[in-house]
Amino acid sequence: MLYDFYYENPTRIHFGKNSLDALKNELNNYGKKVLLVYGGGSIKKIGLYDEVINILNAANKEIYECSGITPNPRYKDMMRGVKLIEDNNIDLILAVGGGSVIDCAKGMSVSMGLKDPFKDLWLDFKDVTKNNVPVGAILTMTGTGSECNGGSVITDEDRMLKKGRVFPPHVYPKFAILNPEYTYTVSKYQMVSGIFDIFSHLMEQYFSGNDENVSDYLIEGLMKTLIKSTKEALKDPKNYEARSNIMWTSSLALNTLVGCGKEQDWEVHSIEHQLSAYTDCAHGMGLAAISVPYYKYIYKYGIDKFVRFAKNVWDIDISNLTKEEAALKGIEALANYIKESKMVYKISELGATEEMLHDIAYSCDLGGAYKKLNHEEILEILKAAY
Ligand code: NZQ
Ligand code: ZN
Repeated sequence: MLYDFYYENPTRIHFGKNSLDALKNELNNYGKKVLLVYGGGSIKKIGLYDEVINILNAANKEIYECSGITPNPRYKDMMRGVKLIEDNNIDLILAVGGGSVIDCAKGMSVSMGLKDPFKDLWLDFKDVTKNNVPVGAILTMTGTGSECNGGSVITDEDRMLKKGRVFPPHVYPKFAILNPEYTYTVSKYQMVSGIFDIFSHLMEQYFSGNDENVSDYLIEGLMKTLIKSTKEALKDPKNYEARSNIMWTSSLALNTLVGCGKEQDWEVHSIEHQLSAYTDCAHGMGLAAISVPYYKYIYKYGIDKFVRFAKNVWDIDISNLTKEEAALKGIEALANYIKESKMVYKISELGATEEMLHDIAYSCDLGGAYKKLNHEEILEILKAAY
């Protein structure tokens, strides 16, 4: 049974080796003033910055820049962009980078005229303006799905909070340019971090409900693709087949399609966001370190789905196993995948200290599907992940 849902994804996708060719036509849809938003310089190293500037110049655009957006993008950096938008009447925000840059661009797009948009939009969940500045995205690092969703995760260092908000479809990037070759230069650490982020998005949606739901079959297919492609990309980062499958799996995992009709969990993400607020860790690595202790804690409450995970995702022969044994075998396979892919397995490796654990646990949002946790239970999970 599917719960009632509304599905709309307005992002136009241009995918492939020549996808940047589409930028020229996309630019025709917007006015003259373009704010280019990017990170710490990787786009310059790979030559993409020059290519984009040339296309903007050829299209006679007035270019403004907001660079230096960090991973786990900061509220103060987002506000630099908001000021540029307000002062210059920007017509299009062009985000070039990974999830952090695109999330930050979406945040800028809806924050004009607000004194403290973090409070209004990320904490108080007020409605967003319909007159937001359109965002376009050129993706250089896969994982978040930010290129084709409404997610915007911002860290306010003063408040010690990293908070996500999912904005409605009119805030999604209007177009996204996805060239898998741009991801070849991403470090192995960031690559596997992004890969686990994708895997986690799939698990957060999969581990809910005990019904027959088409979304679960789609998710299992995406998980199997990812497991295979991870091995190939680790062996050869320039394997186009693997990198292109990872890139598109990333978009499909969080463009809201496979969540349709599902209850969904998202507690691992809530915990990771506060872990990041305290340690500034790479998002996917935080998820990798939390997931096994989390699923060991909750599997009993949704055991049939965990048995199915072992059988359908990891191809484990469960015929002679009890439900309990089969479910645990599936979680063990997940643990092996994390370790073999050189993802982080302990939050202590990410800079978390024992003293931090209580505050991290008690500042997390509470969600969950099979089991709704309280803060004390989250603390237990963090101790097991330590
Ligand atoms: O800053 P630069 O120099 O660009 O370097 C980046 C950054 O250091 C680098 N990089 C990106 N493309 C590269 C490259 N290095 C070499 N070659 C390239 N082609 O990679 C580093 C990490 O980039 P970042 O954008 O931070 O990574 P990611 O895409 O994983 O984004 C993580 C952020 O997205 C949020 C996370 O919480 C985190 O803040 N999320 C957003 C979601 C959404 N919009 O729906 C959902 C996710 O669950 C997630 O929470
Ligand atoms: Zn994520």
